[in-house]
Amino acid sequence: MRKLSLAVAAFALGTTAAIAEQQFYHTTEGTPLDLDLAREEGRDTEAVKEFLDTGVNIYVEDPEVLPEGEDLYLTMCSGCHGHYGEGKIGPGLNDAYMSYRSNETDVGLFSTIFGGASGQMGPNYSTLTLDEILKVMAWVRHLYVEDPADAVWLTPEQREEFTPFDPDADGGGDSEE
Ligand code: HEC
Repeated sequence: MRKLSLAVAAFALGTTAAIAEQQFYHTTEGTPLDLDLAREEGRDTEAVKEFLDTGVNIYVEDPEVLPEGEDLYLTMCSGCHGHYGEGKIGPGLNDAYMSYRSNETDVGLFSTIFGGASGQMGPNYSTLTLDEILKVMAWVRHLYVEDPADAVWLTPEQREEFTPFDPDADGGGDSEE
């Protein structure tokens, strides 16, 4: 908690990139990502500040933001990755296997979405705000169908609680609100 308030204080003094504790690298090229390319809006939410400082996405398993994450995913990602992240022309995102192991962490997943990977996986820094990227990430993580024990992006408490996604139940539940 103390760490968080320090981060918030530091944020007030500088730009997004200047205070970012976390470094982000392009998933396939390994070059540093320039967060100044991010859209102006959605830079200064609590979740973005926390993520840039600690690499922890506080939206993961937050029922308040999952519906928006789902909407963004269905607009921006499902055409290539499948409705439930089962994979289509892009690889599956709902299992424990990632072609780029960096995507097993939220810092890596953010980097892939922000900066792109190869081929059809283009960058999203101009199409999604930083805050929206964190929401999409929360939905991608929510779609996970395998053993929560392998879900390194969850806290130990979340791992205990997490129920693997069930497409038949169209889980995530109350997304119609
Ligand atoms: C136009 C099609 C297309 C769209 C739209 C798209 N992707 Fe991709 N995505 C791909 C392809 C193809 C790859 C494989 C690229 C590679 O191997 O370098 C990929 C790779 C990925 C990976 C790496 C997976 C792994 O196994 O390591 C992630 C994560 C990912 N995409 C997430 C997303 C998210 C989240 C969105 C929406 C914001 C999105 N993608 C939108 C086509 C797409």
